[in-house]
Amino acid sequence: MVLRYTSSMLIVANWKAYVDDLKRAKALFALSKRLALRNKLTIVLAPPAPLLGVLAIGNASKIAFAAQDVSVTTGGAHTGETIASTFASVGASYAIIGHSERRALGDTNHSVSEKLSHALAHGLTPILCVGEQDRDGEGRYLNTLRIELASVFSGLSLKERKSVIVAYEPLWAINKTSAAAIDVRDLSETVAYIRKVLSEFLPGKSAQDLPILYGGSVEPANIRGLAGGSGVDGFLVGHASVDPETFTALVVALA
Ligand code: PGA
Repeated sequence: MVLRYTSSMLIVANWKAYVDDLKRAKALFALSKRLALRNKLTIVLAPPAPLLGVLAIGNASKIAFAAQDVSVTTGGAHTGETIASTFASVGASYAIIGHSERRALGDTNHSVSEKLSHALAHGLTPILCVGEQDRDGEGRYLNTLRIELASVFSGLSLKERKSVIVAYEPLWAINKTSAAAIDVRDLSETVAYIRKVLSEFLPGKSAQDLPILYGGSVEPANIRGLAGGSGVDGFLVGHASVDPETFTALVVALA
């Protein structure tokens, strides 16, 4: 069953390669189920692929699952690749595409675009990551965002464009602490800019309605401040999503 994000704040827990064993994964899943029941928000877990398979098969809870990436291939003689349809068949509903840590290992705007199309073709809601390396005083970084967005959206049908979630993840803010994350003013300006670019590809209200997440050192200390007034619909959380106490504090702070 494909669960789709609807209206409440969305937290996508990107476990990266932090969670390395099934016992820990099961404990975090159980915790997430409790948190989702008690708080009015949507939690999506993005575990490493084998753990996703174990947790998502037969999942009847409110928690949904995301692949951390999908293969650029569509199957066949490609040792080591996990394709979009495999993730869908074990119960994933979302796929993170174009994360900067994948781009650093070779993903390009072209391959990101292909991966995103594969995700859509198999009913996975893509979470498209975009973000600049650095910020310059002249606003040139905005052009990076425009290119990353345009290269994907220009190749999609209108229906497909409406199914994408955008995650704004400035590289300079990832894997630091809340003190180094973006501030709410800069975030709201960037979200407005992203919506402006999206309006070139989506008519009227659709560009305003497309969910935009922020990721990059989101922690209990800054999540509430970043949520208020920035225009984001949720967060893509890395290191703060894999420690039970920190994740609980994060969810409670947002809810
Ligand atoms: P972080 O990672 O929260 O650890 O900065 C976020 C991400 O890379 O998605």
